[in-house]
Amino acid sequence: MAYETLIVEAHDAVALIRLNRPEALNALNSRLLEELGQALDAAEADPGVRCLVLTGSERAFAAGADIKEMSDKSYAEMFSADFFGPAARRIEACRKPIIAAVSGYALGGGCELAMLCDFIIASETARFGQPEINLGVMPGIGGTQRLTRLVGKSKAMDMILTGRMMDAAEAERAGLVSRIVPADRLVAEALEAAAKIAGQSPLAVMMNIELVDAAYETTLSAGVAMERRLFHSLFAFEDQKEGMAAFIEKRKPDFRGR
Ligand code: CAA
Repeated sequence: MAYETLIVEAHDAVALIRLNRPEALNALNSRLLEELGQALDAAEADPGVRCLVLTGSERAFAAGADIKEMSDKSYAEMFSADFFGPAARRIEACRKPIIAAVSGYALGGGCELAMLCDFIIASETARFGQPEINLGVMPGIGGTQRLTRLVGKSKAMDMILTGRMMDAAEAERAGLVSRIVPADRLVAEALEAAAKIAGQSPLAVMMNIELVDAAYETTLSAGVAMERRLFHSLFAFEDQKEGMAAFIEKRKPDFRGR
């Protein structure tokens, strides 16, 4: 499918989605968010896709929500469209793993979009921020909540109230990103990580994601109990038998998602 604001490429079992509005540093306008929803629908419907990588350009992952599109909106328009709600929920609802590969600016809605993914790989040039305060507003795609959970109250307050940016090294120290890679290796490294995930049991991958996400929503004892139940339930799948047999037989497992 051809998109106006995205470039989608298949890399074996990995779908690579590139945000592509270079003239606006990949600012998230309604067209881009609608197309991103369509690309996620297509990837989820395709049994051949087992992992997704979401990236931007070398200069910008995304410089935020599109300020020019938003600036004249009324409260009634924002409220009745539940502005950003449906788009954010669509990304959150994706059951296939999504890696954000971030180079350059990931600001405002761009930082929030990266945080909606399952984890973030950053290039050395990545810069993260929630600069909405400079516009007289606030993060609107979950930034006040997700950034605080990821980096803690003090740093989240600092970022959100001053609008300053974090470089990749600070983002890694703070736990916002999982690793930093050289800028010219970003997409290759993200695709390698995605290929590794794509080679695992898709059922086990999905359940692991559910559990890590649950850690943000539930108590420790309820989360641990849920983990034990799902751990037990994996023994109902052929993939568990295959994974353990392959280990014992010293061969590579062939996970079929059954
Ligand atoms: N919306 C719309 N257009 C944007 C944009 C945005 N968020 N960010 C950049 N652009 C556009 C610029 O207007 C410019 O277009 P023109 O050439 O037509 O003027 C083009 O992209 C290139 O940008 P700059 O000339 O500003 O590039 P720079 O290198 O000088 O600065 C930058 C880069 C620091 C990222 C700067 O563009 C900037 O501060 N952008 C806005 C960042 C921001 O405030 N993001 C938060 C948006 S609000 C939000 O996201 C709300 C939410 O949580 C949902």
